Amino acid sequence: MEIKKVGVMGCGAMGLGVAQVCAQAGIPTIAVKATPGSTDKIRSGLEKSLGKMVERGKMTAEKMDSTLGLLQLTTKEEDVADCDLIVESIIEDLETKKALFQRLEGIVSPQTLLTTNTSTLSVTAMMAVCKQRDRVAGLHFFNPATVMKLVEIIHAFETSDSTVSTLNNFCKKLGKDPVIVQDTTGFIVNRLLTPYMLSAIRLLEMGTGTIGDIDHAMKSGAAHPMGPFELADYIGLDVVEAMTLNIYQDMHQPHVSSPHTLTRLVQLGYLGRKTGKGFYDYSVKPPIPNPALRHPVA
Ligand SMILES: NC(=O)c1ccc[n+]([C@@H]2O[C@H](COP(=O)([O-])OP(=O)(O)OC[C@H]3O[C@@H](n4cnc5c(N)ncnc54)[C@H](O)[C@@H]3O)[C@@H](O)[C@H]2O)c1
Repeated sequence: MEIKKVGVMGCGAMGLGVAQVCAQAGIPTIAVKATPGSTDKIRSGLEKSLGKMVERGKMTAEKMDSTLGLLQLTTKEEDVADCDLIVESIIEDLETKKALFQRLEGIVSPQTLLTTNTSTLSVTAMMAVCKQRDRVAGLHFFNPATVMKLVEIIHAFETSDSTVSTLNNFCKKLGKDPVIVQDTTGFIVNRLLTPYMLSAIRLLEMGTGTIGDIDHAMKSGAAHPMGPFELADYIGLDVVEAMTLNIYQDMHQPHVSSPHTLTRLVQLGYLGRKTGKGFYDYSVKPPIPNPALRHPVA
């Protein structure tokens, strides 16, 4: 089966990134804004970021025009009716995602593949609310979707081999580097990365080092491109907390429970780069550690 049109549910950091990747690969794509409000700001933000790529010589003006031409934004879920593939990329909340999958089955054709970009939730749990389960799978892109090559294709309990094969070919068409993973909480990358970020937060709470020291050590000593706090801010602390809760529910091990500092930052709305503050304060250049973390919390 060839994917001729893609529908992306959610226009957040990941949804919009995935939609851009598909349009850049020449595939007509429609992205649905999942929360109320107009799509105008999203469109102008996208035009601005593609314009910057053209200025920096990373994209031709023709490619920018064709990408924008192939990428439609909408607020109506029903507009994905003629898509061959849906990539759900809304908030990391199982009940909200399950309800969306149920609505989607009433909108799309029986051949349409239904996938989720969840970071840690059970794809099988989303599949369970669907009548036609063989076409449900995970398609886990990495942030930023336009840059990161890996896509985890999640083979849930009743996903058919032909669905996995179609998704594998689709990822290759996007220029991605797919890996097929069985439906385990956190799949491969987040199952390994989440406990790592949580351990860094616990080291901070123990006073082992500052945010800057720990980030510096992992960049300089382990050749990571970002330190664990830079990475957590980049992912979004609400997403990190959601991943933590999901993995904890599965493993029930103390080292994968949410540290106090993470919980408090999320409660304060300090969600990382997307809100301007997380472990770092991005309102100044270069970013400084968030002043809210000046007191030890352990
Ligand atoms: N941030 C990452 O690094 C990353 C990487 C891979 C996958 N993901 C996954 O992608 C999905 C989206 O994450 P994101 O980083 O784009 O988050 P985001 O905060 O940038 O976007 C969240 C999206 O959810 C929508 N939304 C918010 N509340 C909603 C509700 N009640 N009902 C329906 N939609 C709602 C928002 O409009 C927005 O489109 C999540 O499942 C996340 O786990 C995130």
